[in-house]
Amino acid sequence: MREDLKCVISERRTLPSGQVEFILDNPRLAKEAEPGQFVHIAVENGKNLLRRPISICDAADGKTRIIFEIKGEGTKWLAGRSVGDTLTLMGPLGRGFDLDIGGSAFIIGGGIGVFPLYMLAKKLKNPKIFLGFRNKDMVVMEDEFAALGKTLVATDDGSYGEKGFAIDLAEKEISDCDIIYACGPKPMLKAVKAVAERHGVRAQISMEERMGCGIGACLVCVCKTTTGNRQVCLQGPVFDAKEIIFD
Ligand SMILES: Cc1cc2nc3c(=O)[nH]c(=O)nc-3n(C[C@H](O)[C@H](O)[C@H](O)COP(=O)(O)OP(=O)(O)OC[C@H]3O[C@@H](n4cnc5c(N)ncnc54)[C@H](O)[C@@H]3O)c2cc1C
Ligand code: FES
Repeated sequence: MREDLKCVISERRTLPSGQVEFILDNPRLAKEAEPGQFVHIAVENGKNLLRRPISICDAADGKTRIIFEIKGEGTKWLAGRSVGDTLTLMGPLGRGFDLDIGGSAFIIGGGIGVFPLYMLAKKLKNPKIFLGFRNKDMVVMEDEFAALGKTLVATDDGSYGEKGFAIDLAEKEISDCDIIYACGPKPMLKAVKAVAERHGVRAQISMEERMGCGIGACLVCVCKTTTGNRQVCLQGPVFDAKEIIFD
């Protein structure tokens, strides 16, 4: 949806892992949202900042859930919004995950990349879920994912779950997998692509690039693919891993 929508923040909380969660009220946004899509939120702090893209974590019954980490000026302004405030945003935008691939699905998420995977996990039948975080304090949504499928957690420092990376846990069980869906930092996505290719499994990955317009007009967000540069905001953020060229 390229036109601006007004969304009232009906709930706000800070998660123990530090991110901020909003529930946004807008029936149209919630109805049209698909797993892997995002909203492009106007930052109305009077400094002409570009909009900031945030993934849709969940959407149902007129309500859309987003969760974001405070990184810089844009997300700091956003985190300062309260219940009853109205956000101006475009969405849902982008191409989400393909739910029609079928077979046994693995979901692999790293850090804040776990958020867009939640709505996906709700739509898939009995997915196996592998989540990776820096350490115990950063683990988020484990119980919610565990309610949707067998969920394993890895931490970089071994302070919770298995020590290591989510993709390594997934590779141990890869013989049970037909399709991997992944979102997380680039090194993780690169590893997902390598594992998928090694085992002849399909993979869909959600790419994260800085964005300008969010609707295919400015080319700020391009990523390299086997068919040339493509716009993450319009042709992604979800791509088949085999198409993506990592530097
Ligand atoms: C499709 C998409 C979905 C996203 N979904 C979420 C989400 O659900 N939750 C969430 O917490 N974040 C998400 N992000 C990232 C979020 O958009 C950025 O953190 C935010 O735009 C940073 O804005 P800022 O003004 O706070 O920070 P800035 O001041 O703009 O940047 C602060 C630091 O973060 C880095 N940075 C900013 N944006 C990006 C980016 N897109 N990729 C890599 N590094 C970046 C900058 O280089 C800088 O070092 C998503 C990004 C994309 C492209
Ligand atoms: S952000 Fe402008 S083309 Fe993607």
